[in-house]
Amino acid sequence: MDSSFPPEYTRWWVEFYYQKFQVNEHVLIPRLETESLVREAVKYCRANLPDILIDIGTGSGIIPLSILSVVEISQTFALDITSEAIKVAEWNNKNQGKNITFLESDLLSIFFSENTPLFEKDKHTLLVTNLPYIKQDDWENMSADTVHEPKLALFGWENTGFELYEKLFNQIESFVEKYQPKTLTILAEMGDNQTDIAQEILKKYGWKFSFFSDLRWIERFMKITIVQDL
Ligand SMILES: C[S@@+](CC[C@H](N)C(=O)[O-])C[C@H]1O[C@@H](n2cnc3c(N)ncnc32)[C@H](O)[C@@H]1O
Repeated sequence: MDSSFPPEYTRWWVEFYYQKFQVNEHVLIPRLETESLVREAVKYCRANLPDILIDIGTGSGIIPLSILSVVEISQTFALDITSEAIKVAEWNNKNQGKNITFLESDLLSIFFSENTPLFEKDKHTLLVTNLPYIKQDDWENMSADTVHEPKLALFGWENTGFELYEKLFNQIESFVEKYQPKTLTILAEMGDNQTDIAQEILKKYGWKFSFFSDLRWIERFMKITIVQDL
């Protein structure tokens, strides 16, 4: 076997945020830095008690399952563009039995395509996401084992890698219009060199935003406040 083949894909599990999760070649191998996103989400949930949690690009489901291992949220949605990833996430929830609705969706589009809304208006809503953010085929800046991970989980598009986030931001207005959340916050992971591009793009939307760091003090997460409680 290729010596760069990740051992996580042969033993089929990883440890993340104090728990074991199943992984296979259809999902990204969870990264340690993503635990900082989970920690911030847990802190946010304890302080703000959201009613709705939505994870976009759930992969193996580690983000919502980790958050729900320590806080309770009435309704959680875990979305991914591939059914294979959804299967892995559902499998990981079999052991935990959390109340999560798993849906195949291109970003938030499932929330618009259904005739009836998927949840009621006027809810405190938290979106969490670790979307692909690497520039298409930027292999020279990537470690050898990433070649075995799904390209859909790695590459965000070709110019900056940030394009999927832009696409998500462009869906937010329709989401707010349809669901009229009482509050809406996004916590999201990005590349360690993407603060400038994120800032440039976020300024256009007029939302309040800030960045936070992982445990190595590398700024790689966005906190975006879209609707604030009055
Ligand atoms: C970087 S991985 C993150 C996986 C997992 N959340 C984690 O942190 O380990 C990105 C995930 O987003 C999914 N994805 C890619 N494009 C998407 C899209 N347009 N809509 C929804 N999910 C998408 C991929 O299939 C992949 O599972």
